[in-house]
Amino acid sequence: MSAHLTVLATGGTIAGIAGSAIGHEYNAGEIGIDAYLEKVGGLGLSAVLSGKQIANIDSADMGPPVWNALYFAMRAALADEACDGVIVTHGTDTLEETAFLLDLTIPARKPVVVVGAMRPADAVGYDGLRNFANAVRVASDGDAAGRGVLVVMGDRVFAARDVRKVRTRGADAFRGFPRGSVGLVTPAALDWFGAPWRRDLGAMFEWHDDLPPVAVVYLYAGVVVDDVVRQIGEDTQGVVIAGVGEGNMPEPVRRYLADLKAHGVVVVRASRADEGLVDREADDDANGFVAARALNPQKARILLQVLLANAIRAPEDIQRAFDGR
Ligand code: SIN
Repeated sequence: MSAHLTVLATGGTIAGIAGSAIGHEYNAGEIGIDAYLEKVGGLGLSAVLSGKQIANIDSADMGPPVWNALYFAMRAALADEACDGVIVTHGTDTLEETAFLLDLTIPARKPVVVVGAMRPADAVGYDGLRNFANAVRVASDGDAAGRGVLVVMGDRVFAARDVRKVRTRGADAFRGFPRGSVGLVTPAALDWFGAPWRRDLGAMFEWHDDLPPVAVVYLYAGVVVDDVVRQIGEDTQGVVIAGVGEGNMPEPVRRYLADLKAHGVVVVRASRADEGLVDREADDDANGFVAARALNPQKARILLQVLLANAIRAPEDIQRAFDGR
């Protein structure tokens, strides 16, 4: 029997138009969901698709207003007994943040798949149709439930927590870290690597319309405390350091941040390295800092915002959430 899937469209290059098959410039978020579903109708996919346009934007403009609309549309779709799974179409630039935010706040009982494309719809070698067909294959599979929100790019399936955009050109732009991909997919075949890890589990955290302000502070050779102060701004409840190496920082910056922590601001040490894994160090206890583990700075920010919105503020509780998967 064919799966009934709801497609929530937000824009991005998967819905982008260049006006030329070989041009470099294009506009993301041009094709509406109805036209898109007509386009994929010719592929002979064995699923019944219904679409809803949430936004049609370049994902550089993604943020709380669209996230709220997307979250509530997704909850409504998942609550419908006739809906077997949800696909979100999204720009690739901030796809990892949206996917992770939903992963933290959506129950894992039905498949949820986020998909994008690196080339606009009228470009030669458009990857969007292949990626979309693969996303339909994954979202139609009962075994996709219990793995949290999944991301399909190329012929790979990634867990939202692991996935990151690692290239700005070419269709092979996403990677999972530290877990690599959790499955391989084609429109006709799907192989999972391992069993679902969140089977039948509800949402990890409650949704809050207002996410508290959390700053990401980028560190570099020669950084001084004034540079850090400028990046943090006012009213920040949390700071994620994109630190050098394993979330490291100059001693004056450490002292400044430990003082900030003493005044109630949560400080998380992440790494600016492509595959940065930041472990707790002995000093973290004294400083009151949290180690981001495998989360990159932009995803550490999402997790910290969700934790703070849920009134989770104790460093040991925050650390546990960063240690989890
Ligand atoms: C975007 O993120 O909306 C533009 C880039 C892309 O989708 O690849």
